[in-house]
Amino acid sequence: MKQQWFNEARFGMFVHFGLYSAAARHEWVQNYERLTDAEYRPYFDHFDPDRFDARSLARRAKDTGMGYVVLTTKHHDGFALWDSALTDFTSMTACGRDLVREYVDALREEGVKVGLYHSVIDWHHPDFTVDWNHPRRDDENAHELNVGRDMARYRDFLHGQVRELLTDYGEIDYLFFDFTYPESKDGWDGKGPVDWDAQTLLALCRELQPGMLVNDRLGIPADFVTPEQYQPTSPIVKDGVALTWEACQTLNGSWGYHRDNTDQKSPTLLVQMLADSVSMDGNMLLNVGPDGRGAIAPRDAKVLDELGEWMRLHRDAIIGAGHAPFAPPREGVYTMRGDRLYLHLFSWPMGFVHLPQLAGRVAYARLLNDGSWLKTSVIDPDQQADLMTPAGEEEGTLTVHLPIRRPDVLIPVVELTLVDD
Ligand code: GLC
Repeated sequence: MKQQWFNEARFGMFVHFGLYSAAARHEWVQNYERLTDAEYRPYFDHFDPDRFDARSLARRAKDTGMGYVVLTTKHHDGFALWDSALTDFTSMTACGRDLVREYVDALREEGVKVGLYHSVIDWHHPDFTVDWNHPRRDDENAHELNVGRDMARYRDFLHGQVRELLTDYGEIDYLFFDFTYPESKDGWDGKGPVDWDAQTLLALCRELQPGMLVNDRLGIPADFVTPEQYQPTSPIVKDGVALTWEACQTLNGSWGYHRDNTDQKSPTLLVQMLADSVSMDGNMLLNVGPDGRGAIAPRDAKVLDELGEWMRLHRDAIIGAGHAPFAPPREGVYTMRGDRLYLHLFSWPMGFVHLPQLAGRVAYARLLNDGSWLKTSVIDPDQQADLMTPAGEEEGTLTVHLPIRRPDVLIPVVELTLVDD
């Protein structure tokens, strides 16, 4: 099954890099500030990613415990990070480099799965019609701007660019299209599967890269679904079938480098989100936005280092793990891999954690960070609470004894080896 590597990897790195990285105030800056092409042009003319180092990016992903990376080949601003023959609006023209080539080669050499992101939206292309998401929507006579714009021509360009990416760069493991907004708003139409000719585009993907996973953002179902900036609270099931899903998350709310945004998530919160995703049978794609020179900002590098440290000790609880068929205690979530059940303790209780349904089912318990054995016991359900005697736990509950001192890791994990059924 082509989903297998993806379901096992569980943790990937999203990389948003482009002209907006130099603008340094969100990847939607052109839209948010209604910048004209002329106003956006300086970021192209002065694009200088001298610190964009694909090899160190690939290594960093690996060191963080991530099994795949997804790079923006083109974002909504239309700037292509590869040597596209279909436009001059490329990194090749701007700085003489095919960044997609560098990236793909480095990932393969490091043994990391290769993912591409591609925006089907294009605010630079002269045939892409103005809509309620377009930077020109508030111009005087904005509707007249659409006279002569021809989405059929744009579609050819879109399909042509996707063909280049899927033909000239060897095997691609994953493609994240972005995005569909079919609803009408403020007197404008949105855009959906018909505008992209999504069926043909998906068929092209299947033809050129049969093993590649494709997301659902062409507006038609494909291989996985993509909750963005929220955490699903249960496995995602549609018509009785469990869907493959991946939550994409930012470090600070912005995908592109946003210098003055300090809404940084803590490493603890991020590990919690990762464990939470896996506990619901999902992946987490965590974004970094390299800065205007292509380097990972020190504040982001620091967070990734901490996540990597946690992953080195706890990878067994994440990679290859998934949803467990037990209700977790109030202190955290479970993940499960084979006969191992992992309890991620989001809060640290005093002395004991009580696990319903697990009495008689656990052969061995230990803390995963240091492999230290944990005593287990079963408290008589009929036991009456008294001064220093706790009340009995519900029938079938296993009690795990914990040290008073919480292990000094972002999220402590108790590993429970289950007995053979
Ligand atoms: C959104 C945004 C975008 C970002 C993406 C990541 O749809 O438009 O800027 O690239 O999600 O999932």
